[in-house]
Amino acid sequence: MPETGNARSVRHPARPITRETNDSPIGQAQIHSFARLLRFRREAAGLSRHRLAQQANLSEATIKFIESARTRPTRATLLRLLLVGDLGLLPGDLPLPRHELPLHLLPAQTPPLNCYIAPDFEPLRLLEDLERTLRGAGGHLEQSSLYLTHHSALAYLRYCAKLPGRSLHAENLPLGPLAATIVQQQQSTGLTVVALGPGDGRREIRLVEHLLAAKRQALGLWLLDISQPLLTVAYQQAATTLADRPEVSVLAIAGNFHRLPSYTGLFASSLHGDRQRLFVLLGTLAHLDNALRFLRDTIGSVARPGDLLLIDADLVDDVETRSDEQVPVDEPFPPELVDWLCGPLQRALSRPERISLRRAVDSGGSVAGSIGHSTIATITTIDGRSARPRHFAILHHRRFSLASLRALLDSIGWPSLRVLPAGSTTTAWQSAALLCRRAGYSSR
Ligand SMILES: C[S@@+](CC[C@H](N)C(=O)[O-])C[C@H]1O[C@@H](n2cnc3c(N)ncnc32)[C@H](O)[C@@H]1O
Repeated sequence: MPETGNARSVRHPARPITRETNDSPIGQAQIHSFARLLRFRREAAGLSRHRLAQQANLSEATIKFIESARTRPTRATLLRLLLVGDLGLLPGDLPLPRHELPLHLLPAQTPPLNCYIAPDFEPLRLLEDLERTLRGAGGHLEQSSLYLTHHSALAYLRYCAKLPGRSLHAENLPLGPLAATIVQQQQSTGLTVVALGPGDGRREIRLVEHLLAAKRQALGLWLLDISQPLLTVAYQQAATTLADRPEVSVLAIAGNFHRLPSYTGLFASSLHGDRQRLFVLLGTLAHLDNALRFLRDTIGSVARPGDLLLIDADLVDDVETRSDEQVPVDEPFPPELVDWLCGPLQRALSRPERISLRRAVDSGGSVAGSIGHSTIATITTIDGRSARPRHFAILHHRRFSLASLRALLDSIGWPSLRVLPAGSTTTAWQSAALLCRRAGYSSR
């Protein structure tokens, strides 16, 4: 029989109630606050009072009286409301002392979530696709294939650690000045940093530290990676480094950045409110099959006007004439690079075969005036007799013409705000970081 809270409020107007978190008495303020919360949650769930009353097996009058704080709800009433899933109430929301909560009936208190697994993301299927390709006649591997397994991820990190030019280049990225410009360009309170392919996350986390140094504010750091082992490394690194920064919330996203537009749950406006996003793609643009398509169609589909984009790129001197000599076809492959690139191939082969690597001049891709090369893996049988060699293009590398890259970014709605040199060494080419703002742009 539904109760009518009306009479109860008259009979027990001054019943002392204690808060769940401590034993201080709960007064009218808590009753009012619960009244507001209930009404807000009911309306947010799209429930009429009548419908909620049905779901909670209470009378409509009881709901009305609770929402207008005219009654002090009983424990039984509160527990019925707690069990209406659409309201999303938690035990701590109820104006009840802890000892009055039947704990076995309550939903478990969940810790804040730190991981999101994107829809349709299935790493084992990716691995099966890779193995099928490698057992075929030859062809091309998408760069993400090189990071999928624990072995590949570890070999990649070992390669990064051993390559002096690369780490120097990474250290030289002018994150401080970039962070200062980002903060100047901010239109929203708070920022969500969407790190696409963060690897071990070191540079992306340092960027966040610089952003906080430039302006203390609420920041979301989203680490999105296709490699589960690398994602875990980056997440743990972020959680440790930013442990004493409560203003930062870190989310690990297991997903494929080529599929961003289908992750509608992540990019729904309701999740962000007016918060601006900063998309960060470091160390990866040069390896993409089609940089233009990725920036314009993929990131472009989820970015909103005002969002920011940070990329880095190795550069070809704009006055240099394009020449195959600029491609280091004859440079030896360091052993760590061989381990990283050949590992996935070796593991996919069903019998021992010989794998050799070479570089081949490739087009500069979708950015005019750029130059590139691909690393080609050739697989031959050990005795060299049966079957013809199979060739796989396993990694592209491009050096971009800065002028063309800027013009292209501009033409697809990402005019650059700042270009900063990221250094050059004898082993690494000149490189730059580009910060762009998404302008109103309609593709094609
Ligand atoms: C060259 S590393 C760059 C790592 C890091 N951002 C840095 O600057 O050192 C490329 C990263 O992108 C990730 N990645 C590659 N393809 C991806 C894809 N399709 N979706 C998401 N992450 C991807 C790899 O797992 C790896 O972590």
